[in-house]
Amino acid sequence: MNILITGCKGQLGSEMCLLAAEHQDHRYFLTDVAELDITDIDTVERYVADNKIDIIVNCAAYTAVDRAESDEDTARLINADAVENIARAAAKNNAKVIHVSTDYVFSGDSCTPYREDDATSPTGAYGRTKLLGEQRLMAICPDSVILRTAWLYSPWGNNFMKTMLRLGNERESLNVVYDQVGSPTAAEDLAQAIFSIIEAPKFVPGIYHFTNEGVCSWYDFTRAIHHIAVIQCDVQPIRSEQYPTPTKRPNYSVLDKHKIKATYGINIAHWYDALCRTIERYKNL
Ligand SMILES: NC(=O)c1ccc[n+]([C@@H]2O[C@H](COP(=O)([O-])OP(=O)(O)OC[C@H]3O[C@@H](n4cnc5c(N)ncnc54)[C@H](OP(=O)(O)O)[C@@H]3O)[C@@H](O)[C@H]2O)c1
Repeated sequence: MNILITGCKGQLGSEMCLLAAEHQDHRYFLTDVAELDITDIDTVERYVADNKIDIIVNCAAYTAVDRAESDEDTARLINADAVENIARAAAKNNAKVIHVSTDYVFSGDSCTPYREDDATSPTGAYGRTKLLGEQRLMAICPDSVILRTAWLYSPWGNNFMKTMLRLGNERESLNVVYDQVGSPTAAEDLAQAIFSIIEAPKFVPGIYHFTNEGVCSWYDFTRAIHHIAVIQCDVQPIRSEQYPTPTKRPNYSVLDKHKIKATYGINIAHWYDALCRTIERYKNL
């Protein structure tokens, strides 16, 4: 199959590129904005047609959650308009789409894990634009797969794990929120799940949730990061209101993963095991 991956320089895109090297039975088209700007409909349509693309894995996104509040137009351009471009190109060329979305489509007010068909209700600009992207993709290509994930981290780019490793080494103490809970997700494991979908005997469209197993707060996650990396830092739990941000973060981001496990037979690692593995990889870079 000819597989187009967008956003290859991002966290997930980087992991997709590494795994592509291990799945050599396909031909890959690895792109980021310099090679393929997904906001340009003509370029996207031509690229998909010329290269006879069978599957588009969209890892490109506008992920600056706080910046999106003052720049929603750009966030919408990349997270919704460009996703529509991908959908149109796929529909014209009979290609399948695997697209990645977020827990921010939900309000975060629940106290039980969100299922795929639970009501969406984003509270900020980033979540609104990501939800619009989901809706536009499904309107044009209902046979797509959308993977919603949360709390993504990796050895690449900027993410919470890398920030806490750095701050833990720089400071004697840190305050971290404990009233937001979710499931940290190694981008490597999400990329593995995407390959499981690509190589499954049957492509079953729909919305799926994928994170690592288990639940913790940002405070617990920080303690685990420091414990694994043997960093001495006094980490204190604080409430969200003591760490104000332009976007209100969901208090509860846990996603129910039964559907992806049942449909695609995916085994999911616990977040702590995935974190140990990711820190080890990061140390060995
Ligand atoms: N990070 C998280 O915690 C998290 C949580 C839940 C869901 N997600 C979702 O997971 C997916 C992957 O996230 P990630 O953390 O890997 O994102 P990321 O690291 O921000 O990577 C996104 C990539 O897309 C590129 N890009 C931006 N505009 C583009 C354009 N017009 N054309 C082509 N490429 C473009 C970015 O380039 P520039 O850097 O140059 O802009 C970047 O290389 C996204 O859909 C995101 O919404 C992420």
